Amino acid sequence: MATAKSENSAMKVASDSTLDVERIRADFPILSMVLHAREDRPGVPLVYLDNAATTQRPRQVIQSIVDTYEQHYANVHRGIHWLSDQSTDLYEEARGKVQAFINAQAREEVIFTHGTTESINLVARGWGDKFVQPGDEILLTEMEHHANIVPWQQLAERSGAVIRFLPITDDGQLALDALDQLLTPRTRLVAVTAISNVLGTINPLEVIVARARAVEALVLVDAAQSVPHQKTDVQALGADFLVFSGHKMLGPTGVGVLYGRRELLDAMSPFMGGGSMIRRVTTAGFEPAELPAKFEAGTPPIVPAIGLGAAIDYLNQIGIDAIHEHEMRLCRRAHEALGSIAGLRFLGPAPEHKSGIVSFTLAGVHAHDIAQLLDRHGIAVRAGHHCAMPLHKRLGINASSRASFYFYNTPAEVEQLARAIDDIKRIFRRK
Ligand code: ALA
Repeated sequence: MATAKSENSAMKVASDSTLDVERIRADFPILSMVLHAREDRPGVPLVYLDNAATTQRPRQVIQSIVDTYEQHYANVHRGIHWLSDQSTDLYEEARGKVQAFINAQAREEVIFTHGTTESINLVARGWGDKFVQPGDEILLTEMEHHANIVPWQQLAERSGAVIRFLPITDDGQLALDALDQLLTPRTRLVAVTAISNVLGTINPLEVIVARARAVEALVLVDAAQSVPHQKTDVQALGADFLVFSGHKMLGPTGVGVLYGRRELLDAMSPFMGGGSMIRRVTTAGFEPAELPAKFEAGTPPIVPAIGLGAAIDYLNQIGIDAIHEHEMRLCRRAHEALGSIAGLRFLGPAPEHKSGIVSFTLAGVHAHDIAQLLDRHGIAVRAGHHCAMPLHKRLGINASSRASFYFYNTPAEVEQLARAIDDIKRIFRRK
């Protein structure tokens, strides 16, 4: 089995909500890096605050990848040989871990894709092309990532459907009052992010699911920023589709998940054709395979999926509730520490409505300059439109800077960020 070594691990740390972050950090080799060292200068420790873009990996996940390639690797669901059986077992075991992590009813409801973007495109093609008619409506929100806008715009181009946007309030929450007008008998799907990748807003999905149900619309949840950070229970939520990526939750790049209710997946057409997704092929046509193979054409992301399974083991041992609480504390701390910097404007709501994502603008300093100058302090943040141009337009800005936390970040790192921004401000004032 590709189970990772667990000595020196931060496991067993979190029986309550307080994490032993120093022990956790010891599991992440990259977090002890020192950047920008020169002969005449010692360098600065990495402060990694770009977790909404991608997270880092603990040794346990890296080791599971190494173990798989060294001891268990072959193609899955194909070979009638020992190694292929090993690989298949590990791949399917990873599916079971995902199923349990999000509380899906059946393992067949978990489709491995290559990422959130592919998962959404799969639904837009496999469900949208089959069931969406001219004049049908798809409801998105103003705070969506491009990955949850463009596939629907493409579907609208193909099908003649109409895209509508639920607006946001000035403090970056969904304007739920507008649902009365926007949800109509023509609404076929509401596609909404669980947590905004820019504002950090935690959206009231229960309300949206209930309101969508009332007009018999389906709901797709972009959970890329939520599954890694807070408890997900797809059955309790009642979502029809829920999508996320492995690399934002300690896993490898190149693996994502589409959860879909079984009856919907059964009714959908396969998105991609090829090997593995068929029961039978003749010169006249093909018959698709059962779930989940029906949506996993070609060689799937075998090792990334197994690595995602190891990441889920790690997260489970830390405890997702403890992770969430720690990040909320960092978010509150960031609001306190950055809030006193003159000219700094937070995007999004007050910390109690947010996860560990803190985006901001600084009067007179471009977001890219902020990110570059923070990098000199060893601090990694993202700057730009964060793949959310409609949201930035709504906010009246072209770009913002974003610090995003994970459970291995510390209050001291947040203080460092605040001090560095203060420095930047002083540099620009002198200019
Ligand atoms: N979706 C990722 C982000 O928001 C890449 O940074």
